[in-house]
Amino acid sequence: MNERFPKKISRRSFLSTSGKLALGATGIMAGSAGLFYYGQVTRKQKPQQERPGNIVELGQFSQLKAIKDVEKANYEGTIQDAWVTKAVNGFVYVRNDANGDLLIMSPACTHLGCSINPVPEAQRGGGKGLFFLCPCHAAEFDPSGNSVKGVLLGLDTYKPIISDNKVYIDILASIKGQLRKL
Ligand code: FES
Repeated sequence: MNERFPKKISRRSFLSTSGKLALGATGIMAGSAGLFYYGQVTRKQKPQQERPGNIVELGQFSQLKAIKDVEKANYEGTIQDAWVTKAVNGFVYVRNDANGDLLIMSPACTHLGCSINPVPEAQRGGGKGLFFLCPCHAAEFDPSGNSVKGVLLGLDTYKPIISDNKVYIDILASIKGQLRKL
């Protein structure tokens, strides 16, 4: 027999060896898939430590509750748009309503989206409820953001989320304003 060449492998031996190799490869693949899956599960199970970017902070609860008139509260956050994370910043108007509850209003006029402004105290009311005025086409809104002139829809509002003496809102979850009664 020629010792320089491997001895001839029988069909049974070949099948047995390749079967073992295939099993080994499958085991390795299953092992990595298992590890990957384990990684996914453990990642999901980690406690959420970071708040989502669309939940933005407006300020200290005690400070916002102390607002006597109306104030702007600025925010900064991020939103996910398909695969892109976008930085967003803006502001809302905050006041305490007649029941002492925080009222958080979007500044976007419901006509074409211009930012409304509160009018000086001397110009307010007058039986019409004027409180916010749109500088673009003069739509008017009352202190609760209801439309009183020029547009049909009142201002969008946000539900306050209160945690650790701070107030947050979800900027992706505004509540549509009320339709003006004609
Ligand atoms: S955008 Fe406000 S009235 Fe037109």
